[in-house]
Amino acid sequence: MIVTIDGPAGAGKSSAARGLARRLGFRFLDTGAMYRAVTLAARERGLDLADPEQLAALVREIRVELVGDRVLLEGRDVTDAIRKFEIATATHYAADNPAVRAQLVLWQRAAAADSDVVTEGRDQGTVVFPHAECKIFLTADENERARRRHRDLASRGEDIPFDEVLANQQLRDQRDAARPVGALVKADDAIEVSTDGLTPDEVVAELERIVRSKR
Ligand code: DC
Repeated sequence: MIVTIDGPAGAGKSSAARGLARRLGFRFLDTGAMYRAVTLAARERGLDLADPEQLAALVREIRVELVGDRVLLEGRDVTDAIRKFEIATATHYAADNPAVRAQLVLWQRAAAADSDVVTEGRDQGTVVFPHAECKIFLTADENERARRRHRDLASRGEDIPFDEVLANQQLRDQRDAARPVGALVKADDAIEVSTDGLTPDEVVAELERIVRSKR
């Protein structure tokens, strides 16, 4: 079974998808982590992120793996490094690059080939798994999303002013919506869930109820 969870940054997709996957005994796929890892690899190699050819060549040769909760780049654990604000801010180059997206779609489908998955991102229910049995579109109020990201960054030791986090989120929302390939849109058959006012446990419980009703 494939469960897709798409939605904007900060809606709580990662923790909801991780918790849901644990409850169901499914594999959890954090596809944003793949785009972030590509960005980190490009940065480390001193590539020009704005040059589409350089990123396209890079994704053909690197290895990014999601193993449990860890993200590996060429076998090296980059789980924390890819969460930096700087990487999040620069990831739109990889996300806007059609060649990168095509390659990552292959990685994502391969990861789901031999197990049940809960996968989260922007295009999982529309482009990557259009025939998924259960599709969720997770949303939350813009300010609430920015507050969560601000708290999350602070807990990792990055003290970015709230206004900067909010402005950056608005830019990411615009880019997610305007992307020619893999744009963030709600699939026609997706169920929209707002996480406003819900605890993380309540979100997971609601999603589990929806998945079980589809099985
Ligand atoms: O969900 P996230 O913040 O980790 O995503 C990082 C970036 O990757 C964000 O700019 C959106 C993009 N992304 C995407 O374009 N498609 C996906 N399936 C997942 C993430």
